[in-house]
Amino acid sequence: MPIAPKMIVAGNWKMNGDLSRIEEFRKQLSHLSVVEVVLCPPSVYLSSAKSDNYAVGAQDCSEFLSGAHTGDISVEMLKEIGCKYVIIGHSERRQDHLESNKQVAAKVKTAIDAGITPIACVGEPLEVREAGGVFEYVGEQIQAILELCGDTFFSSSVIAYEPIWAIGTGKTASPEQAQEVHAFIRKELLKVSEKAQMMSILYGGSVKPDNAQALFAQPDINGGLIGGASLQLESFKKICQAAN
Ligand code: PGA
Repeated sequence: MPIAPKMIVAGNWKMNGDLSRIEEFRKQLSHLSVVEVVLCPPSVYLSSAKSDNYAVGAQDCSEFLSGAHTGDISVEMLKEIGCKYVIIGHSERRQDHLESNKQVAAKVKTAIDAGITPIACVGEPLEVREAGGVFEYVGEQIQAILELCGDTFFSSSVIAYEPIWAIGTGKTASPEQAQEVHAFIRKELLKVSEKAQMMSILYGGSVKPDNAQALFAQPDINGGLIGGASLQLESFKKICQAAN
């Protein structure tokens, strides 16, 4: 029986990368013993990205199982090509595609039901932090998921706390700022299930090789969701090693 949440480092390539970069990572991103490494390239590259050294994850999925939803991808399709994870509710999807807390919760449920591990993203914009509303804002995002998924959320899900002001800006939350919200999230989850003790809560937002170790050393930070720094093999490897 493990006694602590699994350390996970997931690389979110967003709409970046190409086949040659996939090939570079597939050949050279080696297996790490303690950390689960996840590569989340654009969906068209998922099949090509598969490797025994890491898991692959999609960046989104539909909340529907099939049907007239042009451009969307179902969880069963992701599963069929070997996806183990799916990022859901990233702030860029909440913003660019107007995904609501309710829709994010529906997608999380669909992934859980299909046996794919959702990486459910939460996090506040700068104005909310400045107004002192972080816990309320993030609490509502978590509650929407818990209301729909209930106990099933604790079977294999992962949460990523990504303060929006830290994403792609070079402004990382300090380890203490991140830990404070991670501890809050775990406390909220523990109200529903003891299993929250074992849930991996990842931090995301300008994680780089030089700040990863201090963040990952916090008691409630169980790895990271890495954007920009996951696009270069060497920097991604260093971040993975910092979690090992
Ligand atoms: P970043 O992105 O590491 O480039 O800040 C993180 C994310 O959006 O997942």
